[in-house]
Amino acid sequence: MTEPVVCTTVAQLREEVAARTAAGAESVGLLPTMGALHAGHLQIARRTRAENDVAVVSVFVNPLQFGPGEDFESYPRQLEQDVRLLAQERVDLVFAPSVEEMYPGGTPVVSVTSGAAGAVLEGATRPGHFDGALTVVNKLLTIVDPGPRIPFRAYFGEKDAQQLLLMQRMVRDFNHRVEIRPVPIVRSEQGLALSSRNQYLSPEQAGHALVLNATLRALAGGELTLDEARRRVAAEPEVSLDYLVTVDPDTLAVTEPRPGALALVAAWVGPTRLIDNMRIPA
Ligand code: PAF
Repeated sequence: MTEPVVCTTVAQLREEVAARTAAGAESVGLLPTMGALHAGHLQIARRTRAENDVAVVSVFVNPLQFGPGEDFESYPRQLEQDVRLLAQERVDLVFAPSVEEMYPGGTPVVSVTSGAAGAVLEGATRPGHFDGALTVVNKLLTIVDPGPRIPFRAYFGEKDAQQLLLMQRMVRDFNHRVEIRPVPIVRSEQGLALSSRNQYLSPEQAGHALVLNATLRALAGGELTLDEARRRVAAEPEVSLDYLVTVDPDTLAVTEPRPGALALVAAWVGPTRLIDNMRIPA
């Protein structure tokens, strides 16, 4: 098992990518993460490895995307364990910068704004969240970009459907020379969408959280109306519903629960906020 090279500075990461492409690597893949890697991340890392000559995983808990009172301080940080897991997936480079390295001089003066598409759904409850996530990914894409002749791909999970859509918009709007590759949601055997925040759940809460997936399946299968689905989630002990809506997957505009629409749910299970989604079969 070869250990990944852990880069903590932008310059070091760029040198490592350049050395590999100079030595003949013909493609580069990036998986941006905040660490605390779980089986869902590892599945994406496996795909990043399989589809690229150079596989890069960034591990950075990005302060810009956490609001006041959110879990930035307590967000799980376990770099050593993450690197061990990524070694098993034969990842080449781990980029694990400090906050000072990513944001020298503090909060950036110039940053990405997510506009109207970033102000609804997750953005309504977490103002500024997408601006922060876009700003850091914008930087990561610039840092890792291997140059014009080398195909460059970035991988995002479909669990964060709104984030994925905004990343695709940013890449188009900013002419980033990268192809975004979406990766399907990975679930526990019982159906819970995997998330680093699942580790905050007690065993009882993890049981209650299953209502999210079960309700999405019933809604997508036409067994429940939207109102019934909302009531079902809200009736689950310890679960407090934020939103359950069906949207056009390309625009996030709210629609009827029709074939092809995307059902999105967000809820707090105890103090932990979880999201999940499912396409209504066309
Ligand atoms: O999805 C995440 O883990 C984060 O939002 C990302 C894309 C790594 C940016 O910090």
